[in-house]
Amino acid sequence: MSKYKIAWLPGDGVGVDVSDAAKIVLDRLALDAEYIHGDIGWEFWCTEGEALPQRTLDLMAGTDCAFFGAITSKGKDVADKELVPEIQGKGYVYRSPIVRMRQVLDLYVCLRPCKAYPGNPLNYKDGINLVIFRENTEGMYIGVEYAQVPEPFYAVKGMEKVPRDAAISLRAITPGSSERIVRAAFEFAVQHGRKRVTAVHKANVLRQTDAVFMEAARKVAAEYPGIQFDNANIDAMGMWLLKNPLNYDVIVTTNLFGDIVSDLCAQMVGGLGFGCSGNIGKNYAVFEPTHGSAPKYAGKYVVNPIATILAAKMMLDWLGEADKAAQLEGAVAAVIAEGKVRTYDMGGDSSTLDMARAIADKL
Ligand code: IPM
Ligand code: MG
Repeated sequence: MSKYKIAWLPGDGVGVDVSDAAKIVLDRLALDAEYIHGDIGWEFWCTEGEALPQRTLDLMAGTDCAFFGAITSKGKDVADKELVPEIQGKGYVYRSPIVRMRQVLDLYVCLRPCKAYPGNPLNYKDGINLVIFRENTEGMYIGVEYAQVPEPFYAVKGMEKVPRDAAISLRAITPGSSERIVRAAFEFAVQHGRKRVTAVHKANVLRQTDAVFMEAARKVAAEYPGIQFDNANIDAMGMWLLKNPLNYDVIVTTNLFGDIVSDLCAQMVGGLGFGCSGNIGKNYAVFEPTHGSAPKYAGKYVVNPIATILAAKMMLDWLGEADKAAQLEGAVAAVIAEGKVRTYDMGGDSSTLDMARAIADKL
């Protein structure tokens, strides 16, 4: 029996290409794992009305963690039309599989490291080495939205300010979820010798929800006197990050702000070809590149697999395979530094699999 069981969820589009690339390096590392393929992706929406079928969640329940590629999603009108005729008009509503996995499995930490590897021609500045902790289960992602304000809401004081023809989305921030994400950020800082944690919010406008987040953040920060703690508004953070990215270390924030700030930070270290995520809960985790499925490149094996390979590195760390994780990161860094093998985003013409093999050859 293998040491690990890993749910292997390539998804669709370039999710398949980059997962193949990750498999090349994991095989070269001889990770003692069984990879169990799970159905997930746009085709399952079209044929079953669910992009993440229950059988895949069941399969995941019997594994140590999951590795996810990418999947296509489309706007409501197109999505509804692409359902097979038998299930059209039956009330199926598209749900993002990754958001669902995060919530159903309570993967409350979204960990997004953004490191400028020396020699990457796409680096915005050398030396950037940020880590983002994004709350992954609540905030603007709870999925409670109304195309029109339900009439009973107007019985509540304050609601009269909301126009009758407004669509509304609810933002839920709890003390418990805020505390655990901030604690995860501080624990990471302690374990990895990081000096500073910055909490990002918009407490001057979102006076209730971000007051809850910031109160939790201050409370947890007080338990870690050895780590500097500061905070910034999300808008100012965008400016400061571009101006002085080296001033930041660990960033902790709510779900949507984390979504936004992590794309900004990923771009500073090479773009989505370098952005990787760990969706981590108490006993389970899902690792993925941050990018989407880029359908126009599907099956062409041209996209940069480094984000996905770095997600595999995060998975190795999480499994407790620190040596293999360090070897893999070293191999990625060496290939970037050498600059001989580069995918199109890096100005080269190497393929997805050339890049994976080059990294594997350094192991
Ligand atoms: C991300 C993505 C997802 C998100 C999408 C695909 C729903 O942008 O992981 O950052 O918004 O969280
Ligand atoms: Mg995003």
